[in-house]
Amino acid sequence: MADDTTDTKSSNQMWGGRFASGPDAIMEEINASIGFDKKLFAQDIRGSIAHATMLAHQGIISTDDKDKIVHGLNTILSEIESGNFEFSRQLEDIHMNVEARLATLIGPAAGRLHTARSRNDQVALDFRLWVKEELQKTEQMLTNLIAAFLDRAEEHAESVMPGFTHLQTAQPVTFGHHCMAYVEMFGRDRSRLRHAIEHLDESPIGAAALAGTGYPIDRHMTAKALGFREPTRNSIDTVSDRDFAIEFLSIAAIAGMHLSRLAEEIVIWSTPQFGFVRLSDAFSTGSSIMPQKKNPDAAELVRAKTGRINGSLVALLTIMKGLPLAYSKDMQEDKEQVFDAAESLELAIAAMTGMVRDMTVNTARMKAAAGSGYSTATDLADWLVREAGLPFRDAHHVTGRAVALAESKGCDLAELPLSDLQAIHPDITDKVYGVLTVEASVASRKSFGGTAPSEVRRQIAFWRARN
Ligand code: ARG
Repeated sequence: MADDTTDTKSSNQMWGGRFASGPDAIMEEINASIGFDKKLFAQDIRGSIAHATMLAHQGIISTDDKDKIVHGLNTILSEIESGNFEFSRQLEDIHMNVEARLATLIGPAAGRLHTARSRNDQVALDFRLWVKEELQKTEQMLTNLIAAFLDRAEEHAESVMPGFTHLQTAQPVTFGHHCMAYVEMFGRDRSRLRHAIEHLDESPIGAAALAGTGYPIDRHMTAKALGFREPTRNSIDTVSDRDFAIEFLSIAAIAGMHLSRLAEEIVIWSTPQFGFVRLSDAFSTGSSIMPQKKNPDAAELVRAKTGRINGSLVALLTIMKGLPLAYSKDMQEDKEQVFDAAESLELAIAAMTGMVRDMTVNTARMKAAAGSGYSTATDLADWLVREAGLPFRDAHHVTGRAVALAESKGCDLAELPLSDLQAIHPDITDKVYGVLTVEASVASRKSFGGTAPSEVRRQIAFWRARN
């Protein structure tokens, strides 16, 4: 068991051979990572079991010692899982906490575990395993979010809403089409995660301190046992590389940016002024002073989590910037950034999935808004091109005059009498009214990837087959 009762000034039992005294209290505080890297206990033990098994297979340690080591490590695993393990700051990090406990449990055989490895390749391994699992978990969470959007898109493939540019009413679209825009975004995030898994799928263990080792180890064997595609190829790079963590943070930052845009739209849509959606009670909060309020706190917090994730990305890029090869202790600062960003991202995706599934869509409000703001002006211009043979620029001008007239009369384009329209251009007939409704406008946009319900359904089918 890690010995917390020893004098803090006694030298470290793991590496203190050449030290006459132990560290200053402040040294211990700045040096220790156990407060956060204990999160890596399962990966650390898995890695050690694979390493010890390989050492025995290669005849570097005896089978008897290997059996003791593996048994001891499994005992430690259940001790930690059941909360019966006392972590010691004097022992710095998870690696030495586990090894010290192993020595207490099995005696001298424990000292053979660290043959042909270093904490430098050990931490690279533990952290890679952790990030790999997190990437896989996030991939699954995005799949659930995409599924939520696909269901809402299917339900609302025909529900019209205003499409915006500059947050000004632009052209009518369907809510299903708008939902599918998010499916595209989160689909890209998911494929970035998959690429990141491929990139990091190399085993660092066996790179040792930085130069490899003279023992006849088998790195392919440990790579296979730990579920990696292959071992890394350069021992110096292996212990100094944290690209996998930075890639995770970059992907998290991009996904966070997408989530923040959705969060912002939900905040806007759920205002009484817009009234496009109503959040469920389960995903909103009340005000302690204003009884009428229902606040989109979860959406606001998702919007804010993006800031934390960006902070973590910039922090780790800055930690790694300018570090000489190979390992430097600076790299110990990598973990908290990744843990914090992972927790933020998971929460944000889960909250968003809940909100999207639960929110009530007010199709009447959306439709009313879709028709306001002369959103079918482009349809009038297109009709003039198609039916009256006008060049698009002229049609644009004619339509502009019709919009100005409707505006001065305080009515919609479709409410202008034919005589008014013909006064602007004599070739306009009453057939034009067929394209001035929002439904006709939306149904006409059948170009691949366009907003017509038939096209939205085609894209839903595309994603269903891939989700
Ligand atoms: N706690 C250290 C970290 O997180 C482990 C590696 C320490 N290696 C060393 N040579 N001091 O990076």
